[in-house]
Amino acid sequence: MPEDNMDKPNIVTCTAPVNIAVIKYWGKRNEELILPINSSLSVTLHQDQLKTTTTVATSRSFQEDKIWLNGKEEDITHPRLQSCLREIRRLARKRRNDRGTAVDSTCLSHKVHICSVNNFPTAAGLASSAAGFACLVYSLARVFGVEGELSGIARQGSGSACRSMYGGFVQWIMGQQDDGKDSLAQQVEPETHWPELRILVLVASAERKPIGSTSGMQTSVQTSCLLKYRAESVVPGRMVEMTEAVRRKDFPAFAELAMKDSNQFHATCLDTYPPIFYLNSVSHQVINLVHCYNRHYGETRVAYTFDAGPNAVIFTLQQHVTEFVQVVQHFFPPEINGGQFIKGLQVNHADLSEELKQNIGLEQMPKGISYIISTTAGPGPCVVEDPTQHLLGSDGLPK
Ligand code: DP6
Repeated sequence: MPEDNMDKPNIVTCTAPVNIAVIKYWGKRNEELILPINSSLSVTLHQDQLKTTTTVATSRSFQEDKIWLNGKEEDITHPRLQSCLREIRRLARKRRNDRGTAVDSTCLSHKVHICSVNNFPTAAGLASSAAGFACLVYSLARVFGVEGELSGIARQGSGSACRSMYGGFVQWIMGQQDDGKDSLAQQVEPETHWPELRILVLVASAERKPIGSTSGMQTSVQTSCLLKYRAESVVPGRMVEMTEAVRRKDFPAFAELAMKDSNQFHATCLDTYPPIFYLNSVSHQVINLVHCYNRHYGETRVAYTFDAGPNAVIFTLQQHVTEFVQVVQHFFPPEINGGQFIKGLQVNHADLSEELKQNIGLEQMPKGISYIISTTAGPGPCVVEDPTQHLLGSDGLPK
């Protein structure tokens, strides 16, 4: 390396997606390694609508590891962050030793600066930790020259993050080993498999922040016998059924299973002592709306799923998107001056029949939903080649 380049940082920028589980992960058998009590399956959402961008820089001149999240410097000593950094450096060292490279070509001894932003508001209450840790691990791997299986490291940042390491339809196999080496994510089908599948995130106007997943699931493992039953006797069969429904692109089977699994997850939250409530009155009304809509047509055209918060994620097929969005807008009349109600992929306008509105027959809930993000299944993490997109400057500080 020429002398004047010695202190120039090595910079990499990557993006990673959010994922939404249709067979839920809830409960750990090992807190430190983040090993789950059951397998889970998710759909990776498209990064055009929801993504994390992370820039990682290494340089001889950096004094210490540092991290900035959404514009604010955060504590790098966070144990899960440390796990990811340690595991990537361990892999990089192993690779160097295996290859017998004499020179420290992977800047292994250098400190790292990390800067990360989301393209969606944290206030949207969408689990940003999955995209965040997936992006961190993917970017660190690039900067340290590590390749291959990385979901086992992302898992140690946040369980659901391992599923954001792949696009399309992804399963996290719980594994059996105590060291967690077999607890990994795997792609079931790529994002191109089911182009008709559409996803709507209905952002509920949440009043307060619910209990976090990490502590919520701890209490559930300690107190809910329903959760134990679910993990041992329900999820194994559902994983097989869900994988097959995805492979066959069988929307009714996929949709019913997704709704039942979301409902069972929230039932285990109620069975937790003291109970945990993630759904609010808007969530309950969305559930009613979906069932009334499906009953009107005598078939399952729309499904919902909810994570550890009140926002609904809706699955439907391309041909029903326009009408269902109109139905949501009718039963949850939005704030007039509130800007755009539908963000993301374009949804056309349609007029609803009086018969449909009457058959659904629910009370309207004005302003119950702040806005809708319209999206599809999408690809896994990517490298951003354009250097103007780096979030860190050549001085290693946020731009
Ligand atoms: C309800 O992955 O956020 O979204 O592993 O403690 O970081 P930690 O929890 P996290 O839990 C996600 C729970 C869920 C269901 C799911 O995504 O499968």
